[in-house]
Amino acid sequence: MNGCMATACATSSPLVPAAAAKSPACPSKKSSAASFRARGVSCRATGGGDDGGLLWLPRREILTGLGGVAAGLVGYQSLASVANGAELKEQCAKGDQVNDTLVECMDRTIPCPPTRKVPVVDFTRESGVKRVRRPVHLLSREYQEKYKEAVGKMKALPASNPLSFVAQAAIHEAYCDHHYRYDPENKDAPFDVHFSWIFAPWHRMYIYFYEKALGQLIGDDTFALPFWNWDTPAGMVVPALFKDSFASPLYDRNRNPDNLDKVVHLDLKDKSVPVSFNGPHDKAYQDAIYKNLCTLHQQQIRGGRCARAFLGEKLCSEMTRDANSQGSLERMAHTALHVWVGRKRTDSCTGGVVGQDNTTYCTNDMGFLGSSGRDPLFYSHHANVDRLWHIWATKLGGEGFKDPEWLDASFVFYDDVENPRPVRIKFRDVIDTQNLGYTYDAESDKDLPWKDCQLTSLVPHAKGGAVRSRSASTKTAGAPLFPVTLKKDQVVEVPAVAVPAKKAGQQRVLVFQGIEYDPRGENKFDVAINVPKGSALEVGPQNFEFAGSFAVVPSSNAAGGKLKGGITLSIDDVLKDIKAADDSTVDVIIVPRTEGEIKINSAPTIQS
Ligand code: C2O
Repeated sequence: MNGCMATACATSSPLVPAAAAKSPACPSKKSSAASFRARGVSCRATGGGDDGGLLWLPRREILTGLGGVAAGLVGYQSLASVANGAELKEQCAKGDQVNDTLVECMDRTIPCPPTRKVPVVDFTRESGVKRVRRPVHLLSREYQEKYKEAVGKMKALPASNPLSFVAQAAIHEAYCDHHYRYDPENKDAPFDVHFSWIFAPWHRMYIYFYEKALGQLIGDDTFALPFWNWDTPAGMVVPALFKDSFASPLYDRNRNPDNLDKVVHLDLKDKSVPVSFNGPHDKAYQDAIYKNLCTLHQQQIRGGRCARAFLGEKLCSEMTRDANSQGSLERMAHTALHVWVGRKRTDSCTGGVVGQDNTTYCTNDMGFLGSSGRDPLFYSHHANVDRLWHIWATKLGGEGFKDPEWLDASFVFYDDVENPRPVRIKFRDVIDTQNLGYTYDAESDKDLPWKDCQLTSLVPHAKGGAVRSRSASTKTAGAPLFPVTLKKDQVVEVPAVAVPAKKAGQQRVLVFQGIEYDPRGENKFDVAINVPKGSALEVGPQNFEFAGSFAVVPSSNAAGGKLKGGITLSIDDVLKDIKAADDSTVDVIIVPRTEGEIKINSAPTIQS
């Protein structure tokens, strides 16, 4: 038993979280279908026939294209075609439907997706659950060998096979390294499967086909992708199975050696010195585990009260400009682990990867989005991300998006490693893992050690606490503020943010939009409520005052400019715990954790 569970994070048995009974819907952006006009886009790879367009997105003026381009995909033409099979429906205010008359692959210097028509078949749901995903650290010797054998075989396939390991990694690269754009002319409009509500379902689809291919390669259709169980103390270290450097297909040399045997930091930029994975006799170990459990508690429960906050905001072109917004599932532990595993950030290096912007990135593999699929650990990492979504939806009362635009959005992947064929799969097919024929080991989900993590107050609170905690300078100076450029460790206080009354059945959310950042660098800030400026650097996921973080996995920047984004944080728990549930204003505290220049253009608002 680790110290955390013994002290502050009591485990409790029945899975009836506070949040569970009913997770009220967050207010959702209303969109107007009426303003749509039919438009077409495709790089016409796999999308022949009656497809009517592979991508359906709003805002024609910036969505003239989905440019399927692929410096990183040279030699993988069929892959580019997979990537190009993205079909996605979405409505945003002032949206336009875009389809294949408008867009062509514009870049002639690289293999555009093939124009041959390839029939795409629709995904058929699996009839029963035959694959049970288990934690990597608990695999039997036999299962470990199976996993190695399967990945070994996948690595041995020729790159021309879209289910080869190289090709799988390249799919991820294509979708997140600016190989696709809403507008081929405009490098500033990348299409990405990260930073929005697409993140969870797209990655579920992606690793599902990966898992199936592995099973096929070893002739075992019950083979299930093992998950890196980093949400339980025994799993909070890079699994030994992946560290065996002796001719193991699961090994990847592009990882940060300093971190491999240390307790992971699930809170990105956690300042504490990484501690060895020593076991509970060590106080520093206990603290590290406790912080991790608190981070998960924030991610899954307090910060996951509604779909907008947990899964991210809707993808829409306006958002790529301004309000791209990851959910807590993506921007917390998931992001921290990418950075944790990837190589240490250095200005120059050998063995880095070249991004779509021709810059060399040294934080590969996991620490750079474009290259993360090259590390076999990526897939077991994402199996756990997927599991945490599954737990949220099935045990924590989390309700996903119900919009038909979301449920009908689809992507095309290759299935069948022997005879690869494109399959179109919709989000509605993947909401329930049973439709995909897999589930998660029930034993591992019985005691979720983060579920009841006991948080603490950083400072005392009383009703009307906002005003009392505000620093003297802010009280007098009025609002300095937006746009504001963050500097590491220089806390920004946003005084007197209006708090709307709570509406029945709705969560209040704190929304930041117009965050500009250089995606190549490290970007993280924390958000807290009613903490005096002087104490704010101490705030973290272990505190009631903590409202969430903005953090991204480094990625390339084709345009050379900044990316924009936002975050939506569910804060009703925070307000209640700091006795501000009925206050009319609170002070929002921004705590920059990284050197990178992050500019916040507009003041955060609280919505109900
Ligand atoms: Cu596609 Cu963990 O990222």
